[in-house]
Amino acid sequence: MHSFYFHSFIFFLSPITSKCVRNNMNEYVFMVQARGIQIRENVKNIGAQVLEQVVRGAYSINGTDYSYDFNFSESDAPPTTYLPEGFTYLPSQVCPEKLPSMKGRLEVNMTEISLEEVERFSLEREPSMAPGGFWKPTDCLPRWKVAILVPFRNRHEHLPILLRHLVPVLQKQRLQFAFYVIEQGGTEPFNRAMLFNVGFKEAMKDLDWDCLIFHDVDHLMENDRNYYGCTDMPRHFAVKLDKYSYMLPYNEFFGGVSGLMVKQFKKINGFPNAFWGWGGEDDDLWNRVQFANYTVSRPQGDQGRYMSIPHHHRGEAQFLGRYTLLRHSKERQKVDGLNNLNYFPLVSRSPLFTNITVSLSRKLAPIADY
Ligand SMILES: *[C@@H]1O[C@H](CO)[C@@H](O)[C@H](O)[C@H]1NC(C)=O
Ligand SMILES: *[C@@H]1O[C@H](CO)[C@@H](O)[C@H](O)[C@H]1NC(C)=O
Ligand SMILES: *[C@@H]1O[C@H](CO)[C@@H](O)[C@H](O)[C@H]1NC(C)=O
Ligand SMILES: *[C@@H]1O[C@H](CO)[C@@H](O)[C@H](O)[C@H]1NC(C)=O
Ligand SMILES: *[C@@H]1O[C@H](CO)[C@@H](O)[C@H](O)[C@H]1NC(C)=O
Repeated sequence: MHSFYFHSFIFFLSPITSKCVRNNMNEYVFMVQARGIQIRENVKNIGAQVLEQVVRGAYSINGTDYSYDFNFSESDAPPTTYLPEGFTYLPSQVCPEKLPSMKGRLEVNMTEISLEEVERFSLEREPSMAPGGFWKPTDCLPRWKVAILVPFRNRHEHLPILLRHLVPVLQKQRLQFAFYVIEQGGTEPFNRAMLFNVGFKEAMKDLDWDCLIFHDVDHLMENDRNYYGCTDMPRHFAVKLDKYSYMLPYNEFFGGVSGLMVKQFKKINGFPNAFWGWGGEDDDLWNRVQFANYTVSRPQGDQGRYMSIPHHHRGEAQFLGRYTLLRHSKERQKVDGLNNLNYFPLVSRSPLFTNITVSLSRKLAPIADY
């Protein structure tokens, strides 16, 4: 446990911290007012009421896991409130979703760094990280167990940049997590979707994960309130990319960073295996999600901003057959995905991730007629 978090172990309504809470309340009240959210007239009482709303708003499960007696009947908590600084977690209770450590805008650092160096200072900061990058909070019970799956080929300088950026964010978000880097060997065109299927099957051998994040190695979030737990899933996280001028390229766009709950991913039979070369597999996943009657959610406003590390598709061929395949998404969903996948992985643990190296070929995912 790093000393940074020790201050928050003091029960937050104790005399020692109440002053600090009140100061933060003033800031918070100001924020609320600035956003034009109507608040009560009773100014004397406002600190307590706002605090209550903040606390309630930060918990999605009725506030039943934290048993503060607020004696407050209204449930009009603004949806975008975060817990105040100095809020105390209890090791026996579920971590909130809207933590004070999630400040919003993040600096993105794209300076290259060696993997060894990221490993070294990540472990210095959080010695409890186990080989494979397994981590969970100890000051509260993690709300979600999240496997981050990263398809990989020939991007060795990007991976440490992603880990340096994302590992501390997930720790601030108080999620239990681990990274799985699924590296494609062999000479076949890159198959991002099939790598995700492999990563999913391997990750589930480690732990009973709840949420899956499908994460490109070159995408760096710009806002740490972009919560990677499985709230409102399926979810498309990478809504506003710098390379698309921070606009969603089209409504059905599901690329870059997306997430599903494990039970949803199983229900849609995972990703298709038939997309060789880049492009189209994310659209097919979108179709699968629609056919299962799920609605995709997205983070609001600037929370969905990402920068991507500039690169070229390094000789990875575009997949030109994608439009034909996409026309048959529905028929193929039943016969191509988790249920026709064979693979022979080489699995090893690095300090911050599990390395799954796998050779892929078409005969590993035979497709029955449809
Ligand atoms: C929330 O409270 C309602 C009513 O008390 C209850 O029916 C529901 O199961 C609770 N939800 C959770 C997640 O605890
Ligand atoms: C809540 O406040 C009301 C009015 O101030 C009071 O009558 C009631 O007893 C309080 N309830 C609890 C549980 O403290
Ligand atoms: C970026 O990361 C490098 C290496 O970790 C560090 O030396 C540098 O100070 C960072 N830059 C910024 C702007 O944080
Ligand atoms: C999705 O909704 C449609 C229309 O309500 C229904 O016919 C179909 O069975 C549903 N599909 C699934 C997979 O639940
Ligand atoms: C994963 O392991 C393979 C085989 O040992 C190795 O060649 C490769 O460089 C590793 N990949 C990463 C991203 O560390």
